[in-house]
Amino acid sequence: MLTRRQFSAGAVTLAASSVLAAAAERPRYTTRLAPPADVGPGTTVRVQLTAAERPTALSCFGGRPLPMWTFTEGAWPPVVRLNIGDELQATLENRLPRPDESTSIHWHGIRLPNDQDGVPHLVQPPVNVGETFHYRFTPPDCGTYFFHTHCNTVEQLGRGLQGTLIIDGDAVDSYDADVVLLMRDWIIDPDTGQFASFFTLRGAGRAGTYGTLRTVNGMVNPEILLPAAGDCRLRLINSDPTRIMKIGVKGADAAIIAIDGIAVPPFPLTLWEMGPAMRIDLALRAPQDGGRASLFDISQSASAPRELAYFKGQGFSRRTSKFDPAPLRASRIPEPDLNNATRLNFIFDATDSGQALLEATDVLGALLSSLCLSAKTFWTINERAWPDQKNPKLPAPFAVLDRGASYVFRMTNKSQFSHPIHIHGHTFKLLGSNKQSLPTHHMDTLLLLPEETAEVAFVADNPGDWMFHCHVIEHQETGMMGYFRVA
Ligand code: C2O
Ligand code: CU
Repeated sequence: MLTRRQFSAGAVTLAASSVLAAAAERPRYTTRLAPPADVGPGTTVRVQLTAAERPTALSCFGGRPLPMWTFTEGAWPPVVRLNIGDELQATLENRLPRPDESTSIHWHGIRLPNDQDGVPHLVQPPVNVGETFHYRFTPPDCGTYFFHTHCNTVEQLGRGLQGTLIIDGDAVDSYDADVVLLMRDWIIDPDTGQFASFFTLRGAGRAGTYGTLRTVNGMVNPEILLPAAGDCRLRLINSDPTRIMKIGVKGADAAIIAIDGIAVPPFPLTLWEMGPAMRIDLALRAPQDGGRASLFDISQSASAPRELAYFKGQGFSRRTSKFDPAPLRASRIPEPDLNNATRLNFIFDATDSGQALLEATDVLGALLSSLCLSAKTFWTINERAWPDQKNPKLPAPFAVLDRGASYVFRMTNKSQFSHPIHIHGHTFKLLGSNKQSLPTHHMDTLLLLPEETAEVAFVADNPGDWMFHCHVIEHQETGMMGYFRVA
């Protein structure tokens, strides 16, 4: 293990000038992706995931155990790791502490068979307390993924019911280290030290409820020891239910080599915006022995970057060549046929009550309660809201897509808040946006900024009913959710 526990909880800031200076310099790297991995028949990896309340004293909790909900005993978060071609067999058992607390597991970003996708009512019955469900699938893509509950997500994920999923086989050269950095906040009442409310009306109608304690791998600003001058693979996962981060590295060369698990031609990391559920893989040249580099987030304030973790070089220098990270292996995601693609428009917006909630000045007052407590429906996709995933009665799908055909989704955010829009069972290819110029890449979660219109394309090659929703969980659970059918 390369991390060392750190107990200091103070915010660390970096000079903004150095961040800007780092952004000014843009090295060029080898950019041709390596050929896709050969996928032979692999082995079967079996895991037992028992959802239960386990009072856990993560180091970030300062020695106090909190009533976390987790999938396993021991280290949090659990890591499930396989090689490309391996089959995963996961047994979920529900031992959550409330009699009506059903659960399920969604394998976020994996292109898997529909009945393994873990969405209650839509593709499987919810797993009730005392029940067991067996998941079984062979992931088709390498990369960095995560899994999480898809029931009462705002609370279950808020309490920690999640894990990391890594599928190996995309690296041509071996790295000097391979480190998962799972970033998320915890919502803790500063007075009692206990979990506070995971859902607030104020948050649901705005950018979501922010956590009060920011962590990486359950630690506050951990020190990550890396082999000195080594080329290290860092797998960054934003698994927070709410927070959008703008991530950079200071004090080391770093390149983005994969986005949402899928290889991209390496390009220098300057700043990269990561909404909830989004991942990036970095190749980073570690500092020399005793040297220090910093992982930071400037989403809150460009003048006061927030250090999330820092890297320290250790031992003899592993590499002396100029930093030029080897590209990963290309994925086998089918290429959409843009000439014959069907175009569909999706508008993401607030409801009237969502808008009224936003405009209400006395956000905690009587107006708000009378307005919202009865109908917690604040967000829509194409003027439809599906806030209630506990109800077994399903709405109609947004659209029925022809299996094997190509589609372009034109997605417009008419609201004042950003929405990380997640598609299940498929992987989007970015075509363009009116607000950002990002390199061409694939993603399962697209961060849609206020007033942004972006176009993505994909082949609807996976039959079934697939969720399509915002991954700010309070937005999802107050309406910004739907599904489409591939038949
Ligand atoms: Cu990561 Cu439908 O969610
Ligand atoms: Cu949203």
